[in-house]
Amino acid sequence: MASGGVALADRLREIRDAALVAIAQAGDAQQLETARARWLGRSGALSDAMSGMRDLQPADRPATGRLANEVKYLLETAYEERAAELSSSGSAEPSGPDLSLPGRRGWAGGAHPVTQVIDEICEIFGELGFVRAAGPEIETDWHNFTALGIPLDHPAADEHDTFWLDDHVVLRTHTSPVQARVMQANEPPIRVVAPGLCYRRDPFDVSHAPAFEQIEGLAVDEGVDFVEFRAAIDFFVRRFFGPSVRSRFRASYFPFTEPSAEVDVSCFLCDGSGCSACKRSGWIEIMGSGMVDPVVFEECGLDPERYTGYAFGMGAARIAMLRYRIPDIRLLYEGDVGFLEQFAR
Ligand code: PHE
Repeated sequence: MASGGVALADRLREIRDAALVAIAQAGDAQQLETARARWLGRSGALSDAMSGMRDLQPADRPATGRLANEVKYLLETAYEERAAELSSSGSAEPSGPDLSLPGRRGWAGGAHPVTQVIDEICEIFGELGFVRAAGPEIETDWHNFTALGIPLDHPAADEHDTFWLDDHVVLRTHTSPVQARVMQANEPPIRVVAPGLCYRRDPFDVSHAPAFEQIEGLAVDEGVDFVEFRAAIDFFVRRFFGPSVRSRFRASYFPFTEPSAEVDVSCFLCDGSGCSACKRSGWIEIMGSGMVDPVVFEECGLDPERYTGYAFGMGAARIAMLRYRIPDIRLLYEGDVGFLEQFAR
């Protein structure tokens, strides 16, 4: 090959090496275009070198031309590949995991708000010497009604909208039958709190559920009087709702207590000035209660001349709803983790 051919071949290899480096190092489309224009463009280095073919000896042309075509093909391929790389890495859709995302907190679980309220109430009464008791949800009509001074043909029995399972078998309509069971099985002193599910044929709406938690309380001993009863309830109310919350007794009627009282607490949301929770009265009803009626002692085999006592019953869901301002009781049954998570401790 004549010297002109050797020089052009060297020049082509120089262009090849330099252009490959420039293309590989192009960091974005702009830099790649600059490299393409400089080395591969119409007035770039490669076409400038190829125009020197004219001056070659005819014998040198085929080999040099082949080399020139190889270099051109190589550079064009390298350019296409780099262009494809840059456009995929620069697009909006990142590939692979995004390590800058904040982590998701693990759901560790927790007690249901109603369970929390029950546990807290039992703990507070525990400080007054009450222990936990339990009874069956499937009850005899004797425990659910008769032992508590509710004759089956009495309207009070109808008011309970009972689920009857059999002739004398019901789903308990309240936790009060646990009173009867505890008194039958134990000699006083008795101090128990008995949380558990109760059932009534109620619609499932904003404020009713056919299955609901109650907490029963019962204290029986010699010399238990109304003052102790009043003091125990007041102690509970202050501990549970806060030291500035007051309680009041409103005369009421239950077949198994005499006298009977509804317990109200001063509205802990508006401080008594009147809001929707207390229906603008400043007071919120939290439980039914009273001194145990001697009839109940007689039914359960305790001496009414010797013993006195008090009892109370409250709806745990109602108390959880008041405390946490939950507007619809059904939220407590849905098992929605997004909702329940707020109460996890
Ligand atoms: N068992 C009653 C009810 O379900 C509440 C209550 C319990 C009242 C104990 C007085 C004493 O409404």
